[in-house]
Amino acid sequence: MKTIGYGKANGKIILMGEHAVVYGEPAIAFPFLATNINATIHPCDSFQLHCAYYDGSLEGAPETLNSIKVLINQLQKDFPIGPLSLNIESTIPAERGMGSSAAVAVAITRAFFDLLDQSLSQEKLLAYVEQAERIAHGNPSGIDAAATSGHDPMYFTKGHPFNFFPLNIDAFLVVADTGVKGQTREAVKDVSNLVSGDPGQEIMRHIHLLGALSKEAKKAISENQVQRLADIMNEAQQHLKKLTVSNQLLDTLIQTALSAGALGAKLTGGGRGGCMIALTNTKKEAQVVCEALEKNGAVSTWIQGLGVHTYA
Ligand code: PMV
Repeated sequence: MKTIGYGKANGKIILMGEHAVVYGEPAIAFPFLATNINATIHPCDSFQLHCAYYDGSLEGAPETLNSIKVLINQLQKDFPIGPLSLNIESTIPAERGMGSSAAVAVAITRAFFDLLDQSLSQEKLLAYVEQAERIAHGNPSGIDAAATSGHDPMYFTKGHPFNFFPLNIDAFLVVADTGVKGQTREAVKDVSNLVSGDPGQEIMRHIHLLGALSKEAKKAISENQVQRLADIMNEAQQHLKKLTVSNQLLDTLIQTALSAGALGAKLTGGGRGGCMIALTNTKKEAQVVCEALEKNGAVSTWIQGLGVHTYA
């Protein structure tokens, strides 16, 4: 065993297919390397957790960090190596649809196995992360775990092997943080209640249409059709609204982005707060959109190139 273990993960952006992915529809996500997380673990006299939200005994950590407790308990059960001190440093805004809960679990699991000086297969990593995500999300599709632990954009369908593909499109993506915590767990549960209370299958129709849009988006990306991708994003946002996962703040920022020249815009991740994304042709246009978003309440904005030459 080593004296200290290190683990890393990154944020993620869901371009298309959030929520629908829980019901077996495809989604497109990519690692968002502008934000990341580093975990270090070392043996200690008692279990300790040090992060931006909490500094103290693992046992006394607030309920919002329960997924970390569950993960550490499971790792300890499988590898009883005694008390540990965990240190987490993150630039991924928490609960903003960037997969921070999955990324924390990925970084901790990697740090734990690094401490053990044991190799960790992707399969084993995802199995541990899923346990933590069940606490954080209720019914996770696995897309966050996959995207926060990988390096490549992916076309993801729950329960299927990952399908990596290049974001081969000459466009820029603006990511904006509403500054308000998203409510992924509640939103996923509410969509599930809508589905089960809808004998007319209207909600499932929106879910299937979102899946079909993910397929079309993949085609638009591979054919470098920027306007088509933007139209698909706008259409997806309308379906997400029907699933009740958007809110006034997201709608306002999406409208702001479109008025400032974005070709398409939608929420990303769980919704009800969190982040939105907008597509532009050029970096300059993306900067104009960022300025408008910041004037209208976005607390942070990022610009991500999507072409093969600019991605990552
Ligand atoms: O809010 P985030 O970044 O955790 O994304 C959640 C994505 C959902 O599709 C809403 C849920 C899931 O598990 O796929």
